[in-house]
Amino acid sequence: MIFRQLFDSVSGTYTYLLASRRGGEALIIDPVLEKVERYIQLVNELDLKLVKAVDTHLHADHVTGLGALRDRTHCITVMGEMSKVDVVSMRLADGDKLTIEGLALDAIYTPGHTDDSYSFVMRDRVFTGDTLLIRGTGRTDFQNGDARAQYDSIFNKLLKLPDETMIFPAHDYKGETVSTVAEEKAFNPRLQVKSVDEYVDLMSKLNLPNPKMMDVAVPANMRQGLAQEEIARLGWALSATEAMSLSGQPDVTLVDLRERTEREKHGVIPGSLHAPYPDLAANVRPGGMLNELARATGKRIVFYCAFGERSAMAVRAAQDAGLTSACHIQGGIDAWKKAAGPLARQ
Ligand SMILES: [Fe+2]
Repeated sequence: MIFRQLFDSVSGTYTYLLASRRGGEALIIDPVLEKVERYIQLVNELDLKLVKAVDTHLHADHVTGLGALRDRTHCITVMGEMSKVDVVSMRLADGDKLTIEGLALDAIYTPGHTDDSYSFVMRDRVFTGDTLLIRGTGRTDFQNGDARAQYDSIFNKLLKLPDETMIFPAHDYKGETVSTVAEEKAFNPRLQVKSVDEYVDLMSKLNLPNPKMMDVAVPANMRQGLAQEEIARLGWALSATEAMSLSGQPDVTLVDLRERTEREKHGVIPGSLHAPYPDLAANVRPGGMLNELARATGKRIVFYCAFGERSAMAVRAAQDAGLTSACHIQGGIDAWKKAAGPLARQ
């Protein structure tokens, strides 16, 4: 496995790059905007393909690299379903799996630092975001933070992992890089409390100043969505209602770009094909499945995904490959559901 812990010294943020092998798919957790060039360089040096960029929560102390990485690499952006970010490509719920080739992480909803905080467990390690830090815990006094919820997330979820589980947080300000569940149970001063009330009392007395970047970072991090209006302006978008009237017509093929787990959980548009987003480049190039289908049948390809980001990127790739009638459903299955479009269960 390839595992890299990268540091942004301005915000004290740790960013993690994971891949199962050289030459394979990679995932990045909590990237920082100012470091995006470095991440891309490292991904290239290690001969990796970045396919997912994940934020553990909406950060207040730095601007996320999610949008920039998506624009540069066409990777999928991922956050938890409770996040107030405008648009990401994929949202995960508690218990969902975050997967790339050869690796699977379990998403756990761990609110408290913010109400959109998630941790990700991968075998012998857990990425705790700002929920549990090394010898500390994330502050709970803004962004709908809640010390009571954080106590529950830490004591009843994270500290229930095996004692030897390694803890990799999103921040450290003293140069610590890794800890374990057993160490934090024994030595984290914030965790030496006898009750939830004692923890709430301790957290209420911290009196921390707001992060320097907060007024810039929070609004910027709320707007990470790809500009789907640009795709619409080029005439490559359908509203969910327009797509509904075309669905089932013989000259149209709807193509679902989502992963199997998303299809099972949220349903599919009846009669649509499944062509997962990671295979897109191979499918739209000459000789590829979708390219052949469009050319042989003259059918118009209508891409869709969860929120319209992957499909917007797919339209551009398909148009670049010469499929000039390709378009997508703006807002994805989310918009389709809101327009009361029919869904089939997998
Ligand atoms: Fe944070």
